Amino acid sequence: MLTTVFNMSEGELREAAELVANAEYLIALTGAGVSKESNVPTFRGEDGLWRNYNVIELATPSAFTNNPELVWEWYTWRQGLIAECEPNPGHLTLAKWEETGLLKSLITQNVDGLHRRAGSSNVLEVHGNLWALKCISCDYHGRLSAPAEGLPECPECGSMLRPDVVWFGESLDSEVMARVYADLEKATVCLVIGTSGIVQPAAMFPILVKQRGGTLIEFNVETSRLSSNVDYHIRGPSGKTLPALDSLI
Ligand code: OAD
Ligand code: ZN
Repeated sequence: MLTTVFNMSEGELREAAELVANAEYLIALTGAGVSKESNVPTFRGEDGLWRNYNVIELATPSAFTNNPELVWEWYTWRQGLIAECEPNPGHLTLAKWEETGLLKSLITQNVDGLHRRAGSSNVLEVHGNLWALKCISCDYHGRLSAPAEGLPECPECGSMLRPDVVWFGESLDSEVMARVYADLEKATVCLVIGTSGIVQPAAMFPILVKQRGGTLIEFNVETSRLSSNVDYHIRGPSGKTLPALDSLI
């Protein structure tokens, strides 16, 4: 197992494992990288989603106003992709750490729902969920169990439903954010897993923990924008490095 971690000595890895095992309040921030080994495409990087699609045409409120069919087509395609994916050992390790009482809170930028499918229940989805819906006119919120067909309509008022995800230019849900900030205040150790650290405000979350004296442990296949701020950088795919760390706990 330990051979999957290339950049650290076994001693350093044991040190990180000890910090995780003895943390007073352990939280994690995850990004698209944690789902990469489940075959969910990431946003940036070689075959990232934003490389092949124009963000402005797809993930903004005005894109939806101008061309709801195109936006829904893209989301239906992503729902179809994710329906075929399964949680990987990285998701499962985090779910196990919640179950054993180690991990207090899991903050994710991912909309794929794989953390919940892996068994995590204390999940704060700051960018929403690909299967959640909301009405553009009334307060209706719903959930899809299979990829959407055509343009979904609100059962309450007949208006269009949109994916309940955060688009560029939109603010994050205030209730979710209040819970996130409460956890950031308490965190003594924060795992930073598979995120490029480019998109705000999520990229600030680990920095806030660090500023309050907390320890950051990063899991990534390469350096990210956050790497210069972390205490431990564990290099490798998180589907391997998280179980490797777990094996030392
Ligand atoms: P990105 O696609 O920007 O970054 C993915 C990160 O995962 C990169 O740092 C990769 O090096 C790393 N990575 C890739 N494979 C990995 C693996 N197997 N194990 C560990 N790390 C791996 O994704 P995010 O940082 O999540 O927002 O992007 C943040 C937000 O940007 C997304 O939530 C999305 C997008 O715009 C919205 O849609 C609102
Ligand atoms: Zn409605």
